Amino acid sequence: MTQAVGIARAHTNIALIKYWGKRDKNLFLPMNSSLSLTLEAFYTDTKVTFDDHLTEDIFLLNGKEQSEKEVAKISRFLDLFCEYIGERPFARVESINFVPTAAGLASSASAFAALSLAVADALKLDMTRQELSTFARRGSGSSTRSLFGGFVEWEMGTSSEDSMAHPVDDADWDVGMLVLVVDSQEKKIASRIGMEHTVQTSPFYPAWIESAREDLQAMKAAIAEKDFETLGRITEHNGFKMHATTLSANPPFTYWSADSLLAQEAVRQVREELQVPAYMTMDAGPNVKVLCRASDMGRLQKALSAHFPVEKIISSLPGPAAYVLSEADWQQSKTRLTEGNHL
Ligand code: DP6
Repeated sequence: MTQAVGIARAHTNIALIKYWGKRDKNLFLPMNSSLSLTLEAFYTDTKVTFDDHLTEDIFLLNGKEQSEKEVAKISRFLDLFCEYIGERPFARVESINFVPTAAGLASSASAFAALSLAVADALKLDMTRQELSTFARRGSGSSTRSLFGGFVEWEMGTSSEDSMAHPVDDADWDVGMLVLVVDSQEKKIASRIGMEHTVQTSPFYPAWIESAREDLQAMKAAIAEKDFETLGRITEHNGFKMHATTLSANPPFTYWSADSLLAQEAVRQVREELQVPAYMTMDAGPNVKVLCRASDMGRLQKALSAHFPVEKIISSLPGPAAYVLSEADWQQSKTRLTEGNHL
């Protein structure tokens, strides 16, 4: 190999049944299986160039060279693939995030999924998407699910080889999501730290695991029947239960800000007013996501704008599986970056 190039796009996903806790933090094996919806509106494009002439890995995010710490994360991740192929060429990794970074919109999910597919493309790896998801998992747990589109399950599995994602349903049936961007700043407690602290100290944690298992079964049945209201009710209940484990950790903490509570209140008021099914979920950040019917997104967005700045309400349809991009697509993404109209 003198040079091997791969480029890919992966969309972010929002968990409807949350992944919250690891049973093995080195292998990123989760305590529970989870289920998500991939979103069309948020994604990461990544180009990886393995080059024999490089003497170290280089990582650029949104055109900017990243710190040693960030490069080290990418290098450790590339090591996994290099162990697999039995050689260690260095790489230049360039990523463009069309996701507000670290705002609880799971940019790490799309990031490691895009990088996994770009590496697989560059190295011409002969593996299934599901196998590839076991690699993505070791960059960030939630990225396991971003290799697929629509509703996706990440099965907790029994080992590193079978803790993988698989598609559940393409979500092509009047489903959408609104994201209320309460705060797009860097999150204060990384999910990695927050979940570990919760597992270790929350007396509610065993109950969380038990009920997440039941929620997952019920949610898969609701998806199979395209029963939107049951899907939404389980989503909202599951997310709030996850956050209850952070409130019951010792010392307690929360990802919610005062504005998150105002956003939640606005959602309650608007769904009551409009009599429209709309269900909230939140991740390791202050933003509020609303699962709704795609056909109700316009009305909800309008009504919510009475409570919330309209430019901070982003709507999304379900998104596709990760896919390989051409050099021409990559050039277009770079142009969008320089024009400053990425998020
Ligand atoms: C609340 O995937 O960011 O968004 O595996 O440590 O990188 P690491 O954590 P990460 O955690 C996501 C937590 C969550 C729920 C979810 O996406 O399932």
